[in-house]
Amino acid sequence: MYVCLCQGVTDGQIRDAIYEGCCSYRDVRETLSVGTQCGKCACLAKQVVRETLNEVQIAQGAAYSAEFVAA
Ligand code: FES
Repeated sequence: MYVCLCQGVTDGQIRDAIYEGCCSYRDVRETLSVGTQCGKCACLAKQVVRETLNEVQIAQGAAYSAEFVAA
């Protein structure tokens, strides 16, 4: 779904940006220009960033636990 209509940015693009190395809303904003015109999308964009960062942390925690158990 579109998160930012002004820049044509979708939630999938925001997620991809995080998986490719962005680690904050600021990084995503600089990379995709999301929220840089009218700003109405900022709340939703921040929510998508937060949720995706949580997913990444959980995935990394699970990977770490698996390594710890395997060792
Ligand atoms: S909808 Fe994102 S800046 Fe306007």
